Amino acid sequence: MSRLDECRIIQLHKHSARQGNLTSIEADKDVPFGIGRVYYLYDLPGGESRGGHAHRELQQLMVCVMGAFDVILDDGKERRTLRLDRAYQGLLIRPMVWRELENFSSGAICLVLASEVYLEQDYIRDYQAFLAAASAHDTPGHPPR
Ligand code: TYD
Repeated sequence: MSRLDECRIIQLHKHSARQGNLTSIEADKDVPFGIGRVYYLYDLPGGESRGGHAHRELQQLMVCVMGAFDVILDDGKERRTLRLDRAYQGLLIRPMVWRELENFSSGAICLVLASEVYLEQDYIRDYQAFLAAASAHDTPGHPPR
């Protein structure tokens, strides 16, 4: 299974009521990792793009809690675009996957649950460096995750 195949939409519990909906996410249960950090993106200008990096170890669950946006995922071999637009769906992003976020609708909010606290050394922010690291990662003999 490719790293892109391991990045999948997780259907979250949606508790629907006349008063409104509620979705909860529990560590190691609804997401396959402990939660070290939560952050969110908001006030996102429609024409802007964000992301443009990969993580060496970090895993994330990305949820569009308001509005919609596109997520482009790239494992160095293949590129896929998904549109997130449901507050009860989370996109699991595995390590060593390049991601870009774009086409934000007005008022979009992106919630991210991350497996670790913020660590700049975990980032790969240069695409050519990512391709080299992804290729080394895919070389037989590299310890499996
Ligand atoms: P960055 O990860 O570059 O944002 P994006 O990839 O979405 O464009 O982060 C932007 C800034 O915020 C950068 O200076 C680092 C800081 N930051 C934190 O301090 N803590 C965090 O958890 C995150 C995600 C970013």
